[in-house]
Amino acid sequence: MPDEISTEKNKNKFEFNRKTANANLERILKSKDNKYEALKSGKVSIRDFSYAYANNNPVLKSINLEINHGDKIGVIGRTGAGKSSLISALYRIRPPLSGIVEIDGQIDRSLFELRINLSIIPQEPIIFADSVRVNLDPFDSYSEDELWNILESIGLKNKFKEDGLEHELDEGGKTLSVGEKQLVCLGRAMLKKSKILFIDEATANVDLETDAFIQTQIRKLFKNATVITIAHRLKTIVDSDKIAILEKGKLVEFESPKQLIKVSQLRCKSYNSNNRQRHQSTKTYHTF
Ligand SMILES: Nc1ncnc2c1ncn2[C@@H]1O[C@H](COP(=O)(O)OP(=O)(O)O)[C@@H](O)[C@H]1O
Ligand SMILES: [Mg+2]
Repeated sequence: MPDEISTEKNKNKFEFNRKTANANLERILKSKDNKYEALKSGKVSIRDFSYAYANNNPVLKSINLEINHGDKIGVIGRTGAGKSSLISALYRIRPPLSGIVEIDGQIDRSLFELRINLSIIPQEPIIFADSVRVNLDPFDSYSEDELWNILESIGLKNKFKEDGLEHELDEGGKTLSVGEKQLVCLGRAMLKKSKILFIDEATANVDLETDAFIQTQIRKLFKNATVITIAHRLKTIVDSDKIAILEKGKLVEFESPKQLIKVSQLRCKSYNSNNRQRHQSTKTYHTF
């Protein structure tokens, strides 16, 4: 039966993903003793940068972006425009097709040092099948008090008050809503005090109230960090320093929201006047 085959296939795929994820986690946990230098600044320079996945079709094309330390950047664009690929590229998931990315003035940091310095709240937040403590602090680097303070900052202190930090979360965090999972990821990022934070906004199931709460906490606690937010709600990024608009892998605008409104008003004006002229010339043509 095709249904049974596909269920079996999914089961195998799930088992494979689980094994790979566990192996990766073990490898990462082992490397916790690796030495690394924390970033001094969250400055990011992307120059003439092109990026592709295994099939080598460029999904980012000749991108140039200068992001200053502490900037709050919004990234928008249609589905498939390359927004998530920009994050993937900065994490060096694949080598670039061409161009460079310089973070805090350096290009050739080790992968470990690069990735431990970055934080992400992904579109589908990741929860480990482990305690609240391990989920917040996988490298066991912070004190009990620091963990409770963070739980308070993300509004989850009461939720785990009874069972404490050893409360077990299930794989995929089924007992948590998407918003709460995002909050746990936010807590993880806050503890790390990363100089660069990426947020790939969740499109579904995050109510406006949780969304607003997440945004307020980010503004408060990442005041001094570079925050790059892929936004689905314009409201999230209207007060960004700059907005990057991606279209089919190309960066088509990188301006302050104010400047973008000006540009779009000018475009509207010129579109209207062109239309009027075309209308008039059509009229003239017909009169003849
Ligand atoms: N892992 C992948 N392997 C191959 N192609 C991918 C992969 N992830 C994304 N893509 C392709 O890259 C392009 C940009 O995707 P993505 O960065 O996810 O866009 P966005 O986040 O703007 O919706 C799309 O054409 C998508 O199909
Ligand atoms: Mg995406």
